[in-house]
Amino acid sequence: MMGRIAGILATGMFFLFAGADAFGQTRSAGLMNLKTDGSRLACSNRDSGTVTIVRWPEMTVQHEIPVGHHPEGVAWLGQSAIVACCVYGDDEVVLIDTEAGQVLRRIPVFDEPYGIVSSSDGGRLYVTLEYPGQVICLDADTGKRLQQWDVGSLPRGLAITADDRSLLVTEYLTARVIRVDTADGRILQTWDGASTDNLGRQIVISPSGTRAYLTHIRSRVTAAHGNGSIFPYVSVVRLEGEKQGTRLRVPMDTIRGTRVTANPWDCDVTPDGKSLCVVFAGTNDMYICRITGDDHVELDYQTGMQLGSNPRAVRCVPDGSAVLVYNALDFEVVAFSLRDGKEISRVTVTQNPLSEQLLLGKKLFYTALSPMTSRGWISCSSCHPDGDADGRTWQQPEGLRNTQPMAGLAWTHPLHWSADRDEVQDFEHTIRGRLMQGPGLMKGALPDAMAEKITGRSASLDALAAYTNSHRFPMSPHSKQGLTESAKRGRDLFHSAETKCATCHKGPFYTDSQPFANDKLQMHDVGTGGDDATELMGPRYDTPTLLGIYRSAPYLHHGRAATLRDVLTTENRQDRHGKTSHLTPVQLDDLVEFLKSLPWEDPELSPEAEGVLRVSGR
Ligand code: HEC
Ligand code: HEC
Repeated sequence: MMGRIAGILATGMFFLFAGADAFGQTRSAGLMNLKTDGSRLACSNRDSGTVTIVRWPEMTVQHEIPVGHHPEGVAWLGQSAIVACCVYGDDEVVLIDTEAGQVLRRIPVFDEPYGIVSSSDGGRLYVTLEYPGQVICLDADTGKRLQQWDVGSLPRGLAITADDRSLLVTEYLTARVIRVDTADGRILQTWDGASTDNLGRQIVISPSGTRAYLTHIRSRVTAAHGNGSIFPYVSVVRLEGEKQGTRLRVPMDTIRGTRVTANPWDCDVTPDGKSLCVVFAGTNDMYICRITGDDHVELDYQTGMQLGSNPRAVRCVPDGSAVLVYNALDFEVVAFSLRDGKEISRVTVTQNPLSEQLLLGKKLFYTALSPMTSRGWISCSSCHPDGDADGRTWQQPEGLRNTQPMAGLAWTHPLHWSADRDEVQDFEHTIRGRLMQGPGLMKGALPDAMAEKITGRSASLDALAAYTNSHRFPMSPHSKQGLTESAKRGRDLFHSAETKCATCHKGPFYTDSQPFANDKLQMHDVGTGGDDATELMGPRYDTPTLLGIYRSAPYLHHGRAATLRDVLTTENRQDRHGKTSHLTPVQLDDLVEFLKSLPWEDPELSPEAEGVLRVSGR
């Protein structure tokens, strides 16, 4: 196997494309990437669990290779025909021989591999591990982990400089950019965003190496109304020159007059370094911006084009003739000429693996277009990206509300911290309300959320609900080998009569709230309701599930607890939220360790889950 990879690397070297500069290329992680010679394209298909290899410029599929759950970043190893893919859901980096269309090796990593780049000779792979906050370095030939560095909070995007000396990493929920030394993992420099910057996924470096660009949004949590909450941005990070070390945020909603775009997801610089292509996954369009070479402006609107559904990746081909766009929910890659902007060709990269209902629901969840909004500024996914939380606490009319992850939603109705919605169809209130101001998905007047079921009245709303309910609990990486001794002690404390935790957080889903049991709604005052002067609905709240809580900080409805320990200590001053004041520091550690270990097996398959209602839709 080792010899096989080396052999393919050597063959790849042999077929060097004349125009490609072997040692002058920067490389960026992305859901789609081209081979150095431009002859092949690899894209990862999150819903299908596959990687597809497409011939360029023929635009025909060479292979579609199953890799596992939720593949994210793909990278070509040096000049070779080997692709490495981060399989986010299975915690593996998978190496693929793209000529044979076969998986060569699966490398287990700790958790949530997202972005990946290779050194220019293809010998080393650098990978961001999102939840652990690390970058690791792997030997591509042996799969051995050579290095592991703590770099920041929830790193996703990754790019490597042409000289292989440093990596640029982006933090997902802050859009901070961190420069890391590939020799020793030292943090060389950071470019902080504004406190509102959010969802920084990928980052690309310009061919000259003087700038890096990343798309992100701004989540302005003080404004729970449409025109002021979510904004699209490209940040320009200055790597060299007079303004080295600074960062300029370019607003994408005003760069073209008053035309609004939403959810910028990826960008790429044209090989001549003159333009930046930016795709918007919420408004299904692309802007091509002129790189001005002027430090004050950096980017100017040049031209734009309409794309298909939910574009999540964009890459220019090395000779600069075309730009390729990955329309994730059309399962297509489309090529546009960079000379005249006309479509050249398109290819289906995978068959739709979702039911028609789930696909419609997912499209509605991701789109910022009508009928979801009136002006294209926001989508459900702006705050619930891939069903995860956005790490924010929003000032809602009813008080401060931390965004919850959607994992296990089908089992954990009623919805909201205040249990004021009994079905996802009720989010028609959100769509028609101040936040999204859309025409909505249902005809006629909207009944009060808890009064009357509206399931079955609109196929679109039912589809949105089916998709929203389809998110499953992630397994905790803290208990991959089962509960640790500390977590076992914590489990005993959790179930003890003294702490009382399990009286409310009970059953397979660690909550006493039940779908469609409104007549016996279980809400509890655990002493957290008095901390927020804007609160209109407390002090009783719905008991949240504790499954997957290891990665959903901050905690409590108002997001005031930064850590799980804070929930049990500083935020539980009078023992009103279970009894914790008697616990020693070691016991607190044990209890937190137990909470972080949830879930260690799929709760939906447990025998007790049989007795719990769940909402249909999947
Ligand atoms: C501006 C950000 C934002 C947008 C846009 C948004 N949400 Fe939310 N969502 C939140 C916040 C904050 C909460 C927690 C609010 C609460 O519990 O009262 C939440 C809670 C939810 C919940 C309840 C989760 C649970 O475990 O109880 C569901 C379901 C949900 N949102 C669905 C949607 C849908 C569907 C859309 C689009 C129609 C949407 N959201 C748009 C911020 C947002
Ligand atoms: C009387 C019922 C009750 C008891 C007892 C109880 N909880 Fe809770 N728990 C709740 C409620 C209600 C909330 C939501 C409170 C809020 O958001 O302000 C909550 C929230 C939490 C959260 C934050 C969840 C999130 O997503 O932010 C954690 C963690 C938690 N509880 C753990 C525990 C532990 C550990 C114990 C035992 C020491 C315990 N709870 C005892 C009802 C209870």
